[in-house]
Parts: sequence; structure tokens; C-alpha cells
Amino acid sequence: MYDGSPDLGRNDECWCGSGKKYKKCHLDFDERLSALYNAGEEVPTHDLLKTAEDIEGVKRSAEVNIGALDYVAERIGVGTTTEEINQWVYDYTVAHDAIPAPLNYEGFPDSVCTSVNEVVCHGIPSENYTLKEGDIINVDCSTIKDGYFSDSSRMFCIGEVSPEDADLVRVTKEAVEEGLKAVKPWGHLGDIGAAVNAYATAHGYTVVREFGGHGVGLEFHEDPFVSFVTKPGTGPILAPGLMFTIEPMINRGEAAIDMSDPNGWTVRTADGLPTAQWEVQLVITEDGYELLSW
Ligand code: MF3
Ligand code: CO
Repeated sequence: MYDGSPDLGRNDECWCGSGKKYKKCHLDFDERLSALYNAGEEVPTHDLLKTAEDIEGVKRSAEVNIGALDYVAERIGVGTTTEEINQWVYDYTVAHDAIPAPLNYEGFPDSVCTSVNEVVCHGIPSENYTLKEGDIINVDCSTIKDGYFSDSSRMFCIGEVSPEDADLVRVTKEAVEEGLKAVKPWGHLGDIGAAVNAYATAHGYTVVREFGGHGVGLEFHEDPFVSFVTKPGTGPILAPGLMFTIEPMINRGEAAIDMSDPNGWTVRTADGLPTAQWEVQLVITEDGYELLSW
């Protein structure tokens, strides 16, 4: 039996904070989750489902996160060091009464991840790396505001980049859009990864298996893990209130990665070929989804 439903009477106040009676609010919803569970589906636990108040909090956090990435976008170019990006994100974030989530997260030393060319993710900013014409870089920003977490990342092409790298960056962004098109309330999480994967591989690229998206909102990284190597109709049910990221890492060459950097963070492609990533944060709604950060 499904035991994820809250222990509420029909006339008790609903758990979602609406102030309505349970029977007029989420009772049907909980019965639907329970029926799916009993039919053998994987359903998200209740603590992962965000209330309207949670979503408002995350939006205020995301406003800063989006603003920080816009701030970077206005300034980044040939000659920027990745440490300057780190300073911009730090300054912008604290000026908006928020905290950069990466800073000191499990020992991460900086306020943002900057991943250039063959760096798949978790690149550490450095005053010794100056962006040059032809580089492609992912800037991954995450913000905590009033305890709420937002997380998104964008690619930037520095000056004129090769047609091959420009294509990788564009296709990776389009892969995220394909993933979003596959989002269906009460559908499966695996539909998203399958759509992303099909699009990337149709363009001759490979998809990183070891890293993916994640639940987010009340913590930096919550369940579920969002793989981009999945089959349709598999994985957890996309119940309204589930909040997570779509952030595939897509490689020009092999999918294999190299995690041997002694700093313990920087992940590279095993073959040294370029890789790209875009990240958006969304919440499942009754009739679709709402984008929260990008
Ligand atoms: N922002 C990354 C993500 O999308 C996580 C970075 S963890 C850090 O999940 F410590 F490296 F910042
Ligand atoms: Co993320």
C-alpha cells in the first residue's frame, strides 16, 4: 500500500497551504498518486512536491539567478578571466540579498561553475584562465534566497567559434527544448531524457550518463535524479508540484568522462573534445509546467 499520503481527514485543512478542506483540495490528487503507486509506478514522495508558497519563494530566488546570468551575458567576452565571472556572480548575488549556492557547497571554492570547451561541468573559476576567441563556456549559476534554491546555466560563445562548436551549442539548447516538449503532468520523467537523448544522438552527439538534472527548491540537490539516458514511460511520475532541472551535458565525441582532476571537481570529456550544457529549472503544474529559471 502507498503510505505517502498525509494522515488527514476529509475535512482537515489541506497540506498544501491553500487553507481549503482536504476533500476540496488535494484529496483526489493523493488518491491518484496512491492508485499509480499501487499499479506499480514510481511516485514522488510528498516532501518533494512544492506548495504555492514554495513556488513563490523559488521565483524570488530565480529572479536573482536569472539576473546574475544576464549580468554575466552583458559583460563576458574575449579577455574575460573566469575569476572575473566568479566576482560578477558573487557581487550581483549578494547585492540582491542572496547567497551563491555553490560557495562552500561540499567544499566547492567559488560562487559559480565555469566550464570551458572540454570541461563537462564543475569547472572552477581561475584568474589564470582568460577566455579567448573560439572558446565555448558554460556558466552555471545557483542562488539561495530566503532559503529557496534556484539553478540554471547558459552557454556563451566567445567571439567567432568554429561551426562545429556553434552547432553543438545550438543543438544542446534545442535538446533542452525537446525535453520540455516531452513534459506531461502525470507522465513519466523518463520521457524527458528520452526526448533529449533522441535529439542529441540524431545530430551525431553523445550524452553524458554520470551527471544529470535533479530535484531542487528547498535544497540544492533533491530527488529525483534526472538522467538523459532514459526510455519513455519509465521513471517517476511527473506529479504537479515536482520541481527539477533539465541540464543535459552533450559531447561532440565520446560520452565517456574523465574525473581524475586532482581538484576533485573539474569533469572533462575523456577524449578532450568539446561539450556543452544548458540548464533550466521548472515545476510541473496541473496543465503543463512553469519555467522558473533559465
Ligand atoms: N549547479 C550545478 C548543478 O546544476 C551544481 C554545482 S555543484 C558545485 O547541479 F558545487 F559545483 F557548485
Ligand atoms: Co543543476
